[in-house]
Amino acid sequence: MAPLAPKPRPGVLDIEAYVPGESQVPGGLKPVKLSSNETPLGPSPKAIEAFTAAGSALERYPDGQASALRQAIARRFGLNPDRIVCGAGSDELISLIAHAYLGPGDEGLYTEHGFLLYRIVILAAGATPVVAPETNLRTDVDAILARVTPRTRIVFLANPNNPTGTYLAIDEVRRLRASLPADVLLVLDAAYAEYVRRNDYEAGLELVATTENTVMTRTFSKIFGLAGLRIGWAYCPAAVADALNRIRGPFNLSAPSIAAGAAAMDDWSHIETAVRHNEQWLPWLTAEIEKLGFSVTPSVANFILVHFSTSPGRDAVACDTFLKQRGIIVRRVAGYGLPNALRITIGTEAENRKVVEALTAFAGARA
Ligand SMILES: Cc1ncc(COP(=O)(O)O)c(C=O)c1O
Repeated sequence: MAPLAPKPRPGVLDIEAYVPGESQVPGGLKPVKLSSNETPLGPSPKAIEAFTAAGSALERYPDGQASALRQAIARRFGLNPDRIVCGAGSDELISLIAHAYLGPGDEGLYTEHGFLLYRIVILAAGATPVVAPETNLRTDVDAILARVTPRTRIVFLANPNNPTGTYLAIDEVRRLRASLPADVLLVLDAAYAEYVRRNDYEAGLELVATTENTVMTRTFSKIFGLAGLRIGWAYCPAAVADALNRIRGPFNLSAPSIAAGAAAMDDWSHIETAVRHNEQWLPWLTAEIEKLGFSVTPSVANFILVHFSTSPGRDAVACDTFLKQRGIIVRRVAGYGLPNALRITIGTEAENRKVVEALTAFAGARA
């Protein structure tokens, strides 16, 4: 008989752990890492300065309210700081939301190629994941609404979505909100909002401000260049902020994170530079890769989804291996139901050119 041992709750061991983008390549090459949608420009120098300064008082607990950070965010966007909850990355906030609003018997809904963390947090809360199909790699509001049941408690929507890079226009987000039952929480995950250059896009601030059942999450990991510090924030109705504040760790952000995040938020010129960089290189990379004969899903974020043929030696796995041998790390997305695609983050000019060179060689080699 097996000795007695502690057992996690039923279901925990059925969860497939999130697999982060890779960061190593063979042969000790210095990798070109384009697998996690990090910014090639790094953080604001002011954020680095604030981070370094925070190192002089590490024996002290941080401010458990992250006040300086919440105030900096509130100033930038004209928000009520009481409704902002910060977390160790938006990952933590998404997880806290699931734990606060889902339990056994409840259903959490997300879309077919939606960010994989949603499934994990729904299962971790003991609830049942329900997946709404997408249409041409885009969120389909009617398909989501068709899957709402009396058990639905949360709808998670990444907008823009990772890994597709597509987005849902604000009119459609509003229609979704208006058509969902009032007791269903709509979570708008706007991790890539700063990159979007479309008149019909909004991250959801106004919806949060004008409804009692919509939350928006944001991150400092992408355009702010602070992925290593783990900083995210949620803008919430007062009742949701109250629930999250009750269950979060009392000091869930470190002092260096609070200081660097606040300084980064105050340096908007750095963000504008990053937006301009993306505006230049997103269309360039898309066009160059299309010229090679691959199809690319139109993206509004800082990454693109490239589609490959299914023939052995020409497929996404073969291309991934080919790129890795040249020191380039991109993201396989089979776990997202996209086995024939690779996701590539927009890098520096030199990195983008290297990707095109390598894909040109792959396209030539495959003929
Ligand atoms: C759509 C989306 N949401 C949330 C996150 C989590 O970001 P973080 O926890 O670093 O804030 C990511 C990261 O890849 C993402 O792509």
